[in-house]
Amino acid sequence: MIGKRMQDAINEQIKHELESAYLYLSMVAYFHSESLDGMAQWMTVQAQEELAHAMKFFNHIDERDGRVELKALAQPQKEWASPLEAFKAAHEHERFITGKINDLVKLAAEEKDHAAGIMLQWFVTEQVEEESSTLKVVELLKRIGDSGHGLIMADRELGTRIAAPTENEE
Ligand code: FEO
Repeated sequence: MIGKRMQDAINEQIKHELESAYLYLSMVAYFHSESLDGMAQWMTVQAQEELAHAMKFFNHIDERDGRVELKALAQPQKEWASPLEAFKAAHEHERFITGKINDLVKLAAEEKDHAAGIMLQWFVTEQVEEESSTLKVVELLKRIGDSGHGLIMADRELGTRIAAPTENEE
């Protein structure tokens, strides 16, 4: 059975992951309002990944005879000054989430919760990817600057992102 401290911390992390999905869905709406459908597609995939992350934590508590507790989600930001600012915010958010995962890893070690520790290793690796993928887009958009043509090309490229199979489907 999962311990109370770990259960509370993972329930909090479920909220963070769902808030990530909420934030990225808000970016989807923003990109659509700017007619940047490719970027909207990229962020839709990102939001789907966040839901999958939330479910991994959800299932971990469930499988260990714990009790999932869903919390209220904060209202996400609605507008950004530019696509670059939106992707910068996404990258900053991923860095915040990495910090939260690291806190959970520390707690699992303190609590000698090896099952949580093993589960969390997947997230440690995933966060490297999450930070890297958002930073790559930030750098691409910085290079493009004010070029309208460049933005159209980037939008087309980002629109090719498709959902990765979830772990259960692999
Ligand atoms: Fe679930 Fe993007 O971290």
